[in-house]
Amino acid sequence: MSLITVPSTPYAGQRPGTSGLRKKVPVFQQPGYLENFVQALFDGLDGAQGTTLVLGGDGRFHNRVAVQTILKMAAAHGFGRVLVGAGGILSTPAASAVIRQHGAYGGLILSASHNPGGPDGDFGIKFNTANGGPAPEKITEGIYARSQTITAYRTSDAADVDIDTLGTRELDGLTVTVIDPVADYAALMRETFDFPAIRALFTGGFRLRMDAMCAVGGPYARAILEGELGAPAGTVVNAVPLEDFGGLHPDPNPVNAEDLIAHMNGADAPDMGAATDGDADRNMIVGRGADGRAFAVAPSDSLALLAAHATRVPAYRRGLAGIARSMPTSCAADRVAQALGIPCHETPTGWKFFGNLLDAGQATLCGEESYGTGSDHVREKDGLWAVLFWLNVVAATGQGVEALVRAHWARYGRNIYSRHDYEAIATDGAQALIARLRGQLAALPGQTLGGRTVAAADDFAYTDPVDGSVSRQQGIRVLFSDGARIVYRLSGTGTEGATLRVYLEAVENDPTRQGVETQAALAALIEVARRLADIAGLTGRTEPSVVT
Ligand code: G6P
Ligand code: ZN
Repeated sequence: MSLITVPSTPYAGQRPGTSGLRKKVPVFQQPGYLENFVQALFDGLDGAQGTTLVLGGDGRFHNRVAVQTILKMAAAHGFGRVLVGAGGILSTPAASAVIRQHGAYGGLILSASHNPGGPDGDFGIKFNTANGGPAPEKITEGIYARSQTITAYRTSDAADVDIDTLGTRELDGLTVTVIDPVADYAALMRETFDFPAIRALFTGGFRLRMDAMCAVGGPYARAILEGELGAPAGTVVNAVPLEDFGGLHPDPNPVNAEDLIAHMNGADAPDMGAATDGDADRNMIVGRGADGRAFAVAPSDSLALLAAHATRVPAYRRGLAGIARSMPTSCAADRVAQALGIPCHETPTGWKFFGNLLDAGQATLCGEESYGTGSDHVREKDGLWAVLFWLNVVAATGQGVEALVRAHWARYGRNIYSRHDYEAIATDGAQALIARLRGQLAALPGQTLGGRTVAAADDFAYTDPVDGSVSRQQGIRVLFSDGARIVYRLSGTGTEGATLRVYLEAVENDPTRQGVETQAALAALIEVARRLADIAGLTGRTEPSVVT
């Protein structure tokens, strides 16, 4: 067993996107592909010698191979210790918690989040820093630059290490400690929420269906909900992480979590439904509607409602320092922030933009329209945390999911919201569409479109209030004088062609009209959005492929 240097040549396209480097599994299986990226990453680290690294992933296909590769490279780069989740498992929020709890240098999380897995599915790797959050662009751009000039990588020719048995072993001078992937995270949840109240809720017969979508959330949900909180066995379904997620697309939205929606539509629907994604950082909350239909909570509403009820949760009893939402997320949270007299920050899409605000104590809760919600307890969004937060609020108020949301709308107004995705379109057409919109911006203010007047239009730019860094071209915004908005941006997480996202929002303050069906309420705005960007002409699509 010795440390070796292996000659290598660069692979094009190793630039991390919104959330790490994501590619199809066969791309990652090319000789030296992962090694090049990890070498480029390690080469940029200062003072990592002798420190602790955290390692784990969502258990998807290629996870175990990648864990072994990285352990050997960590040995060759002089890390002191790697904490690896048993079986190579760590959900994204749990990895963040472990990094923080153990004062680690950082962590590598192996996941392509909600993208399908399996031999032909996606794989991914992301680097989180000592605060537990995704590495900022400065770091990821550095990794990319080095990946393009790489000539060799350093590793060990040692045999694979046992990553399934808890305990400590040695690999070419590196201490490898296999940890229980759930323990640190469960302890944090116990400190955060009112566990006795949630336990009493379940004892009282409250029924939850928690769908882990055959992904990494399963073991966490089982241990905490069924193991600690007394939810009946079988509350967590699809609880065993599978390498191909059982063929599911583990993205918790009404389209992909259709089985959960079907149960919530059924005659025997439980009181609440919830789902988490591939790496368990996303969440969807569903109520049992008074009309007998599933009542899916819009993620933007979820953020606003949790913020409004935050003081019912032990960890937030003293109130919130601020809220932060990504720009395309609806303005529902802004209204709560205003009522509470706290700031609401508007950031570009990508959880990493919340990191500085959380570290600086300028925000306590954060959320995104893409089914992500979280707080300063870690530096990632956190699916199970959101489910526990909802359970805590239900327990504290005695109200169900739908009643809570309707009461929220009645008090703060409803920001009716939908996202239309045009997936796997030609990259050229997508870029042309955005460029054309950019050219139209200056002429838009004052125009009347679909009966609404444009108040402002821009290409969103963000100046981080903590470090002053500027991020430009983060999405085209068309803001109307009645509070409605249309936002266009290209996804930063796709692996096939481009995905155009169109975000639509209209404000309804009249409680008697807040029950309206979302797509019907937004019909005029949808029409304007399609025409303004000439979506059919430039993408060849007349309808979106996914509507959430
Ligand atoms: C990931 C990121 C989120 C982001 C989402 C959508 O889940 O962690 O922060 O909102 O992707 O990104 P996209 O660029 O595909 O719209
Ligand atoms: Zn995810």
